[in-house]
Amino acid sequence: MLDRKVDFLVVGSGIAGLSFALKAAALGKVLIVTKANEDESNTKYAQGGVAVVTDETDSFEKHIQDTLIAGDGLCDPQVVENVVKEGPDRIAELIAYGTSFDKEDSGEFDLAKEGGHSMHRILHYKDITGYEIERALLEKIHAHPNIEILTHYFAVDLITQHHLGEHVDKRSENITCFGIYALNTLTKNVEKVLAKVTLMATGGAGHVYSSTTNPTIATGDGIAMVYRAKGKVRNMEFIQFHPTALYNPREYPAFLISEAVRGFGGVLRRANGDSFMEEYDERASLAPRDIVARAIDAEMKKSGLDYVYLDITHRSKADILSHFPNIYEKCLSVGIDMTKDFIPVSPAAHYLCGGILVDQFGATSIKNLYACGECSSTGLHGANRLASNSLLEAAVYAHRIFLNASAIFSGLDFQDGIPSWDESNTALSNEDILVTHNLRETQKLMSDYVGIVRSDFRLERAMRRLGLLHEETESFYKNTKLSVKLCELRNVIQVAYLVVKSATLRNESRGLHYTTDHPNHADLLKDTVL
Ligand code: FAD
Ligand code: SIN
Repeated sequence: MLDRKVDFLVVGSGIAGLSFALKAAALGKVLIVTKANEDESNTKYAQGGVAVVTDETDSFEKHIQDTLIAGDGLCDPQVVENVVKEGPDRIAELIAYGTSFDKEDSGEFDLAKEGGHSMHRILHYKDITGYEIERALLEKIHAHPNIEILTHYFAVDLITQHHLGEHVDKRSENITCFGIYALNTLTKNVEKVLAKVTLMATGGAGHVYSSTTNPTIATGDGIAMVYRAKGKVRNMEFIQFHPTALYNPREYPAFLISEAVRGFGGVLRRANGDSFMEEYDERASLAPRDIVARAIDAEMKKSGLDYVYLDITHRSKADILSHFPNIYEKCLSVGIDMTKDFIPVSPAAHYLCGGILVDQFGATSIKNLYACGECSSTGLHGANRLASNSLLEAAVYAHRIFLNASAIFSGLDFQDGIPSWDESNTALSNEDILVTHNLRETQKLMSDYVGIVRSDFRLERAMRRLGLLHEETESFYKNTKLSVKLCELRNVIQVAYLVVKSATLRNESRGLHYTTDHPNHADLLKDTVL
């Protein structure tokens, strides 16, 4: 069986993994393992753009304030300041790598606006910004002699002292990461990849829910791996539901209608045509996401409909087509001409604000393991992420991790004595449909009981049901030869547990966590660390 040794192992090929890989390649050999095609990632589908201060009428202070307000008291102010102030340099790097952002005739950036932003500050490439960033990064990666990418390699578990037969206590400060076990999906063998430094850049977990804007790769694998290895995760209760996914029950995942459409004048309306957001918040359709998603949820409950409408028909066709060509085409393909028709929209799970706990240089609680991007919890987003701050965070932390790893790298070596993956006593499954059933059940119970509005009773129900699904899946896992679907199910259940457990521990409503049993802020500000 092929085992590998690399200086830097990067798990995931979105903006976080690729940005770090390009930097680390100056220090040593980099291997990127990624579970699907090389470009498949949440990054590829990002629409609105990157929030960053570039205009002279804007200021770091305003971006910092907007981020803190959206985060509802739980952002780490130092982290917010670092990310906002380092943002322009990192975006300049993306541009130097070949990323295009739209400009006006004057040559200035065409800056968009989204919910919670006091200024137009979002750099974008039409309505397919993530696609453009991913394209440019991959082009640079392909040209770099020190970087190899293995696609369709699924990271299964971190390798730590546990695999040397040592007892690893969850309170231990001395857990070390020596690499990962990865499933080669072509040969179906699990291979050992040893690394001096490992970066977890596995993205989000939208598929913990039955309605999500995320592509199917978003199953929270990195977070589940780190938690299983007894690393720390934080603030997992803060699941961001994007207010405006295109309502189309025949489509999974859901197609996003960018918040930039509201930034461009789009108005949320009831079926009778009345706009309603003014009744919920003075910022109306451009209030922060948690507020808009809850308002839509309340409207849907009142009307009995599964959607509300988004109206942008007052803007000219030429303007709509030049700013939102992809959204226009998509809507047209399902019979909606957004230049004339209202677009039916409903909230869908979109972004995980919590994740693997990291310090200001992206280091996790496990030695030689860093985490970057959506799988990490840096403290930037607090209880609710400000729109378009995520691509920015990934770019800034990829650089910070590079600086930190540069300082420790030369003192690190490979660990001897790591055993090969043990698959004795496992057999091929002839009942894969059970995996599908358990995944659907998990997603449904999370959507039903752990959605936009929660309660103690609903969380208890969710936890009881998850217990059974966990038990069944673990017993299946122990006896079955590994498959991606089975590993993903295990991770989805693990992450669902972390969300419910964290939600149960937060006896207040804050940001994205709203519970009818504790509708107000608690006096004490605290993070949930598991
Ligand atoms: P990803 O880009 O998701 O990459 C994760 C990578 O890890 C993938 O390559 C995946 O295949 C791989 N992976 C996962 N598990 C494993 C495993 N077990 N083994 C191997 N590989 C694995 N944010 C903004 O700031 N602005 C926007 O405009 C914006 N729009 C968005 C629109 C949509 C529809 C979505 C879904 C998100 C949007 N976001 C936006 C959020 C943002 O795109 C993501 O948070 C960000 O791209 C995450 O980058 P990442 O590198 O951390 O993860
Ligand atoms: C969007 O375009 O609405 C998504 C922006 C984001 O998630 O930050």
